[in-house]
Amino acid sequence: MLSVEHLESGYGESVILRDVTLRVGPGEVVCLLGRNGVGKTTLLKSIMGLLKARKGKVLYGGSEVTRKEPGERAKRGIGYVPQGREIFGQLTVYENLLLGLEAAKGKNAEVPAEAIEKFPVLPSMYARRGGDLSGGQQQQLAFARALASKPEVLLLDEPTEGIQPSIVEEIRGVIRGIKAEGRTGVLLVEQSLDFVRGVADRFYVMEKGTIVAEGGIADLSDDIVRKHITL
Ligand SMILES: Nc1ncnc2c1ncn2[C@@H]1O[C@H](COP(=O)(O)OP(=O)(O)OP(=O)(O)O)[C@@H](O)[C@H]1O
Ligand SMILES: [Mg+2]
Repeated sequence: MLSVEHLESGYGESVILRDVTLRVGPGEVVCLLGRNGVGKTTLLKSIMGLLKARKGKVLYGGSEVTRKEPGERAKRGIGYVPQGREIFGQLTVYENLLLGLEAAKGKNAEVPAEAIEKFPVLPSMYARRGGDLSGGQQQQLAFARALASKPEVLLLDEPTEGIQPSIVEEIRGVIRGIKAEGRTGVLLVEQSLDFVRGVADRFYVMEKGTIVAEGGIADLSDDIVRKHITL
């Protein structure tokens, strides 16, 4: 459904990603692991088109999207929950959700019920400003905003970073629910190995902008963790 082939990408003169190849199938939760600064966020931005690939390809839904704009990728069904959430602080919760619809212009007329049902706390906060929400509430909003466009592939960049445990559990439940529905594939960047082991089907590990290990989640050995993830 989503595949990245031999991708090279970076900022200005510096090349960050080299020869990255991965794939995410429907209903699959694939996690992307690696230490700080190895290029995980850069990879998600490149998949979304916020950063242009220098070499290689991004394929989605049977066609190549390597040269497509981010808006076009969103419209085709790639959803993105950025690291740090990027909620519009001056806009209301509801207006933030509408921006998710805007991303998929023409596809849906209103915020779909299934996006809201997953985060039942949101409707009671519709009129509040995004900036007044807690970090965990903002993360729920960012997640629901991405679901508003009914994505078929969802890119999640550290959705549990700096969030209280009860909301971490809720987010894990939502990811499991998406997996159970079997339609949407998830590419999850996550630091917590417990979280990953509880939700992912497969993993990739990055180091210095390349994939150095991959496999089924049961193959994520202590050896791999020591070598590439913990210090
Ligand atoms: N806007 C930017 N301009 C220039 N270099 C950048 C930019 N954003 C990130 N980098 C560099 O690219 C490299 C990869 O960064 P990236 O944010 O993709 O890592 P990451 O794996 O997501 O890290 P973290 O776990 O801390 O989120 C780092 O060396 C970083 O300094
Ligand atoms: Mg990052």
